[in-house]
Amino acid sequence: MFIESPRYTERLGSVRLNHVQSVIALDSGLKNQLPPHSAMGVVKIDEETIKHYEDRMAIVIPVKDEKLKLFEGVVSGVPQDCLVIVVSNSQREKVDRFRMEGDALDQLCRFTLRQALIVHQKDPAIARAAMDADYNDLLDEDGLVRDGKSEAMIIGLLMAKAAGKEYVGFVDADNYFPGAVLEYVRNYAAGFSLAQSRYSMVRILWQYKPKISGILYLRKWGRISEVTNKYLNSLISTKTGFETEVVRTSNAGEHAMSMQLAEILPFASGYAGEPQELVSMFENFGGILPTKDIKVMEQGIDIFQIETRNPHLHEEKGNEHLNEMLLSSLSTIYHSPLCDEELKQAILAELIGQGILKKGEEPPPVYINAPLKKGKVLQLVEAIQSDFDKYHVLH
Ligand code: GDD
Repeated sequence: MFIESPRYTERLGSVRLNHVQSVIALDSGLKNQLPPHSAMGVVKIDEETIKHYEDRMAIVIPVKDEKLKLFEGVVSGVPQDCLVIVVSNSQREKVDRFRMEGDALDQLCRFTLRQALIVHQKDPAIARAAMDADYNDLLDEDGLVRDGKSEAMIIGLLMAKAAGKEYVGFVDADNYFPGAVLEYVRNYAAGFSLAQSRYSMVRILWQYKPKISGILYLRKWGRISEVTNKYLNSLISTKTGFETEVVRTSNAGEHAMSMQLAEILPFASGYAGEPQELVSMFENFGGILPTKDIKVMEQGIDIFQIETRNPHLHEEKGNEHLNEMLLSSLSTIYHSPLCDEELKQAILAELIGQGILKKGEEPPPVYINAPLKKGKVLQLVEAIQSDFDKYHVLH
């Protein structure tokens, strides 16, 4: 593929946050050379490189009661060499949707001879393993893994580690275009190939997010991301003294990270996960607050934001859902020790203006799952490994 080279990098301590890079073309052919003219600022990522990273990557698909056709389409879009890991929180009573997902996955894997794992978020074996490893953050009052997309991501990360993968990418299960899924994963691979550090992250920016209301309208910005981006950029600006627009992917559900980075990041519950990842990196490695992890400070963290060619069409889940997402996203910034009083007031005004909070209310702090390193992660991973056959679709 051809992709814009990273043009400008914003540096906050050890965090290297690259401005958006657009995909120029999805394929770059077998010829080795870049065309002599007009190649300035364009990087060619060859097929071999993309396959190198795909082979080392697990793609985690969190799913909760999505249409089966959409789920099948998403799985069919994941490149063959990636390990597919489905973490489901779908219903089991009456209609056993988890079983239907397992059957569909099994069939696709048989047709294509591919590897895949599937696990239910409420599987007591996972909760027991977490408890034994002192990773109780993940558990609710019933002693099972808590609900939430972030919690599914953590289970996916653990399974990917158990399978020996070096990179993990996330793709939502409600995407209408399998071709877009294929592009996300190729973009993940492209980003990782450009990283200097072992701690790296790739976040996807959709070129368009279509909305159908009578006519097809190719909307560029989602309601939530636009607002969260603004306040995350303000958070950076208040520290550097220079206004910036570098953050364009604060709520990127589609994103990927190296296992080394995944292990040191806290994961905020539910949908606050994606903005919290950025906030936590700024807090822990932004050079403003003290850090304990000197090794990471030395290597630095590379973050790439890649704009797709494909538009992103997914299930719309209503206004209330969007309000909740915005509240938890802005809460990650509001409660950060980096957030000064002026920015707090601006966030409050935004949430009151949008009718999400009333005067005098504050955003409730989001629940944060500690970084995996804090638990006895190896013990947890070994427990999952010992049960691996159970999760394997082709077993
Ligand atoms: N396993 C599991 N457990 N999966 C879940 C859960 C859960 O508790 N809740 C949601 N999911 C799955 C959904 O089935 C879907 O595949 C994916 O997680 C995203 O959830 P949605 O409810 O569809 O979220 P969204 O489309 O509104 O928001 C997405 O895009 C945002 C950016 O626009 C998410 O990826 C957000 O995290 C992201 O910020």
